[in-house]
Amino acid sequence: PAPGWTTATDVVVVGSGVAGLTTALRLRAAGLKVMVVTKAVLDDGSTRWAQGGIAAALGEGDTPEQHLADTLVAGAGLCDEEAVRVLVTEGPAAVRRLIATGAAFDKGADGKILLTREGGHHRRRIAHAGGDATGAEISRALVEAVQADPQIEVIEHALVLDLLTDAEGRTAGLTLHVMGEGQRDGVGALHARAVVLATGGMGQVYSATTNPAVSTGDGVALALRAGAEVTDLEFVQFHPTVLWLGPDAEGQQPLISEAVRGEGAHLVDADEVRFMVGQHELAELAPRDIVAKGIMRRMLETGAEHMYLDGRHFGERMWEERFPTILASCRSHGIDPVTELIPVAPAAHHASGGVRTDLRGHTTVSGLYACGEVACTGVHGANRLASNSLLEGLVFAERIAADILERDTAGKLTPRHEDTTREVERVPLLASEARADIQRLMTRGVGVLRNAAGMAEAAEGLAALTADPHSSAVTGKGEAPQVETWEATNLHLVATALTAAARLREETRGCHWREDFPDRDDAAWQRHLISRQQDGVL
Ligand code: SIN
Repeated sequence: PAPGWTTATDVVVVGSGVAGLTTALRLRAAGLKVMVVTKAVLDDGSTRWAQGGIAAALGEGDTPEQHLADTLVAGAGLCDEEAVRVLVTEGPAAVRRLIATGAAFDKGADGKILLTREGGHHRRRIAHAGGDATGAEISRALVEAVQADPQIEVIEHALVLDLLTDAEGRTAGLTLHVMGEGQRDGVGALHARAVVLATGGMGQVYSATTNPAVSTGDGVALALRAGAEVTDLEFVQFHPTVLWLGPDAEGQQPLISEAVRGEGAHLVDADEVRFMVGQHELAELAPRDIVAKGIMRRMLETGAEHMYLDGRHFGERMWEERFPTILASCRSHGIDPVTELIPVAPAAHHASGGVRTDLRGHTTVSGLYACGEVACTGVHGANRLASNSLLEGLVFAERIAADILERDTAGKLTPRHEDTTREVERVPLLASEARADIQRLMTRGVGVLRNAAGMAEAAEGLAALTADPHSSAVTGKGEAPQVETWEATNLHLVATALTAAARLREETRGCHWREDFPDRDDAAWQRHLISRQQDGVL
């Protein structure tokens, strides 16, 4: 069918977290026409849930070189060193510009930004806001700046569907499903000369995740359908300390920031033994994959469903002042961290892989950029260093804005195609109920601990969901798309690509943990797996 409505802009930014809003603000400052489209409302998405903070070499005696060294170690041999160098050298100035945009970080009595520690960092390097509400403050500041600029048009409740390209395969805009926006209600086409994907992660591929419900891998799915390359999908980071709410807890789970360990809380088992001591020189502050594995091992050894975090020695005042969000969240679930151990277990947290980009955010499709968690710039390798992701969003957003401006000045952006009346292409859509099936298959087979048999079962289960076009899982071609059906369809595609990559990588590295291949194998596997879809085939 033809789109129900059309509109046009210079650049469309998809997503409204730190990456998307920073890109939009920088492009606007240079005079380009920008539209931000976002699936829910402007401040929804993962950014506002970030607790610990944003890592940058801002402290006395710290240097980008030291930040680089810690990032490379965490990345377990798969970081792109040049990309990390960009991140750590441009990071401090990007944070200062964020402050100039209005974000207020916690400061000491001397007026200097307070810095904390998190896993894998050998120094205090994490700037935070509101104690443990860093993402909420960054989101507030960026949303206010965007709302203050009437020239940035925002479309909320707009789910991105597919990329539009011109006859030469260059990006010419995208199709959207908008809910309840007057003339723009339903499926329409947005013509643009460049598209920036900043759609965040895909944590909802799993049953339990720290990610909000909107993190359904929409950007990676769009990129795959558009023929772009995606990479490192097998490296899903499981956060070690997520509040354990029972074996059947599903959906977004409360995070207990690594900064709690950074300030001195201990991981203990049911006998109150500190099991990370002796496993790594940094004990509880080892890189995240090592701590998650340490917790899982102890759970398997003792048959426990979770471990505990002990921050009782902080005292009430420190909990209230330093970690007010976490304190309130624990108490709302009947646990008082001032007097009690906090039950914790790993849960899906961050996609280290994503749409493959170069250092200026270009994907492999001309005019399509990717930024933030949806992208794979190479800075995270096989395991992201804590608090590097907000920084990545900031630094690469500025690079993308600079690149688009340069190309515009040089006349290299795709010319406008406002008269294009491309059809809205439809893939067979999955019924919304398939979401829970996908999550169960992925949690069971491709979770924190992986092996060939479990992953084969997951792959078969995923394939079965779409094998019969008349099955109840497939809603049928031509049916009007709903957000839930598109989300289930996107989750299915990214889960399938993730599982395929995880099955191929026959080694254990970073956050990819194979029971059947327990060692890191540099000779065979110090390389990246790249996926691409052609004619609907991965
Ligand atoms: C946390 O606060 O532990 C999360 C930090 C991150 O994921 O970078």
